[in-house]
Amino acid sequence: MHIYWDKQFEIGNTLIDTEHRMLIMLFRKLDIAIKTRQPHKTILRIIVEAKKFAEFHFISEENLMYELNYPELAKHEVMHSQLLAQLEILISRISHKREFPDDLLFFMNKWLVTHIGKEDSKIALYAMNSEQRPIGEEMYSQFLAAIHQTD
Ligand SMILES: [Fe+2]
Ligand SMILES: [Fe+2]
Repeated sequence: MHIYWDKQFEIGNTLIDTEHRMLIMLFRKLDIAIKTRQPHKTILRIIVEAKKFAEFHFISEENLMYELNYPELAKHEVMHSQLLAQLEILISRISHKREFPDDLLFFMNKWLVTHIGKEDSKIALYAMNSEQRPIGEEMYSQFLAAIHQTD
């Protein structure tokens, strides 16, 4: 599997795009760790790093939806918590060597790419047309612009 950042993942919300990019970078890091045959413990540490960031990202996205009064917040929150629950099970299986880290990477990457395209893109569209603005949006260009300039 080759994990990379693709322009098509960009949904048009600077904060979410930045976080997605970071998340995919962590998957790529995991991919490299697996391919370079790093010790099981090292791989598990990276999995935890990616999982914690996914958790952070979900809360961040949920807060954005909340601040915008996004009508599908509850439905979206369920999707996030289902993913985290599945992830917990997978991580526990990997730590007991009953599952391969590649399977988690494949599952996470597939889930994320589909979720970004189908669900997160709807938030970005809603945010673009909403009169209500997220808290601190005016800071985006100051703090996040540098990341977007690296394309
Ligand atoms: Fe989401
Ligand atoms: Fe997302």
